[in-house]
Amino acid sequence: MKIQGRREFMIGAGALATAALLPAAARAQSAKIRLGLMLPFTGTFAQLGVAIENGLNLALAENGDRLGGRELEFFRVDDESEPSKATDNANRLITRDKVDVLIGTVHSGVAMGMLRVARENGTLMLIPNAGADAATGPLCSPNVFRTSFSNWQPVHPLGKVMVERGHKKAVFITWKYAAGEESLASFKEGYAKAGGSVVKELFLPFPSVEFQALLTEIAAIKPDAVACFFAGGGAVKLIKDYAAAGLMDKIPLYGSGFLTDGILPAVGKAAEGLLTTLHYAESLDNPKNKAFRAAYEKKFKLNADVYAVQGYDTGLLLVQALEKVKGDIGNRKAVIAAMESAVIDSPRGQWKMSRAHNPIQDIYLRRVENGDNKVIGVAWKALEDPARGCKLG
Ligand code: PHB
Repeated sequence: MKIQGRREFMIGAGALATAALLPAAARAQSAKIRLGLMLPFTGTFAQLGVAIENGLNLALAENGDRLGGRELEFFRVDDESEPSKATDNANRLITRDKVDVLIGTVHSGVAMGMLRVARENGTLMLIPNAGADAATGPLCSPNVFRTSFSNWQPVHPLGKVMVERGHKKAVFITWKYAAGEESLASFKEGYAKAGGSVVKELFLPFPSVEFQALLTEIAAIKPDAVACFFAGGGAVKLIKDYAAAGLMDKIPLYGSGFLTDGILPAVGKAAEGLLTTLHYAESLDNPKNKAFRAAYEKKFKLNADVYAVQGYDTGLLLVQALEKVKGDIGNRKAVIAAMESAVIDSPRGQWKMSRAHNPIQDIYLRRVENGDNKVIGVAWKALEDPARGCKLG
């Protein structure tokens, strides 16, 4: 007599009654995997949140909308890039919705609130953007993985790029919150090593885009160049205001590549020629990137950007790990081991996790040409965050 597989057994009207007869472990295996998404769907980072969710959905769709053979159920929260709401939002997903995985977010301050909750509860957490250094530094945890970057990474090679172009005295301008401050610290470190110095640090509260007074100050200081961290709506406004103030030709503007990612159609000609460093560029010439961009455009009628890639890679990590444990997400040790040893065949190029659970990845030098971030070199091969203070591994 043929013994039916569990999947076949579950199909049909009697599924619930049947499930009750199964041993607990088998019952857990047949339930849907619950994915909790905490992302910004409103505010200055709204587009970034949408791109991450799209990228994640694409990777899951390419795997039949299943993980390790199990169906999926989604729980979504708009975190509004609002740190003061982060703990409540994360708690709701974990306690009320009982998610198996907490996925988020974009804003470093919000991610820190989520991290606190995930560490307390031991919930598996995947960070598809926020660079907060501590998450894979002093607060690194076995149950927390990042699929994007640490704030230290993208700007670390930028100082050398600027010094090589003769720009030894720079002003740094950014938002006054973790991502801006940590980008500045890393930039300064790399810039000093290359022989450059930051002559002035300028800050705006997040998410303000009132650049005028600071641009007047920059014009008066006359540094060799300006470096910055801005993203989303803030990046659009800075590029437009910088160009309108007539500064583009006089004082070159550099940044981590978030400055020019996902926003080029909104700024048009003003961004042409900008040089940035980042772990992705749309023009990367590898088969995975080409296939990914075509599939993304077909599914969402949008151009993929770095955020879409990070969401996609979050999906690839889940697919790979859950395949390895055959959908048994409750087998925490095995899931963690699978994620630690995963090799992600990403549109950004292949990458692996560091001992602190952060991607070891190439950082590209890009120039905006004809509305596209063109790769003009690898600014740093296989850059690994130093993970200062992390005791894992
Ligand atoms: C962050 O807050 O960590 C952050 C936000 C937007 C970015 C990059 C980093 O593009």
